Amino acid sequence: MRVISVVSGKGGVGKTTLVSNLGIVLASRYNKKVILIDCNITTPHLGLYMGMHNHPITLNDLVKEESDISEAVYTHPSGAKLIPSSLSLKDLDGLDMTKLKSIIDRIKKEYSDTDFIILDCAPGFGREAIAGMRSCDEVIYVTTPYFPVVVDIVKCVRIADDLDLKNIGLLVNMKKNNNHELTTSEIENITELPVIASVSLHNDIFKSLHNRIPISIAKPYSKISRQFSGIAAHLTDEEMPKDKILNRFFGLFDRY
Ligand SMILES: Nc1ncnc2c1ncn2[C@@H]1O[C@H](COP(=O)(O)OP(=O)(O)OP(=O)(O)O)[C@@H](O)[C@H]1O
Ligand SMILES: [Mg+2]
Repeated sequence: MRVISVVSGKGGVGKTTLVSNLGIVLASRYNKKVILIDCNITTPHLGLYMGMHNHPITLNDLVKEESDISEAVYTHPSGAKLIPSSLSLKDLDGLDMTKLKSIIDRIKKEYSDTDFIILDCAPGFGREAIAGMRSCDEVIYVTTPYFPVVVDIVKCVRIADDLDLKNIGLLVNMKKNNNHELTTSEIENITELPVIASVSLHNDIFKSLHNRIPISIAKPYSKISRQFSGIAAHLTDEEMPKDKILNRFFGLFDRY
């Protein structure tokens, strides 16, 4: 079982987009048992991104030791399991996120056949973000291809090194492929991390958020969905499932 945090220094770079799509692809195309946990308790979006927002019991209740773990686990149609955080402001009161690690240890015992636990972390270096990093073994970093955002990744790597975590690599998201962006090799030189995938800035991702259908479900054969599938292939060390040509053709007419 692998416990992976998805982190960034700057917010809004695409962590939740990655976690939701990666979880769906790992479960539905790679047949892996996956639990996604929304560790961004102040601005929890993971359930919303996955079209799941009716969850009476959440991670907040587990941290407060008011519920059993199984009560906070919801299954997405893809097969991926989700532990959401509460959308209600009052559920943040007095929440001690240092308990996250012991909750994850319990999840590991109770769901011992799980292949991947993926933590959607808060951005930055505050207590909330650090709680996620303290609870995992490996890290995927997400950045945009701009110098200040990449510099923030270097700080994240320092923290991960202090915690003795394994670095899986970096997703460079929202690429526009113009002259104002850092190149992949520049980003690799600055961060000393391998870039495991690059995803372009694409309107379909905004559309998928609006429709609350992740792009890997709405357009499973699109270029962007295949980029998420490539990250899953990297993680599992398996070949990317081949899309049938007809699927690719009909994929052009998917949902939106
Ligand atoms: N490749 C992309 N192309 C276009 N829009 C994108 C792309 N990736 C993410 N977005 C959009 O950017 C916004 C921020 O993405 P997301 O919420 O995944 O970032 P985040 O790192 O999780 O943010 P936070 O740090 O606040 O948790 C969302 O509106 C999302 O739909
Ligand atoms: Mg997020």
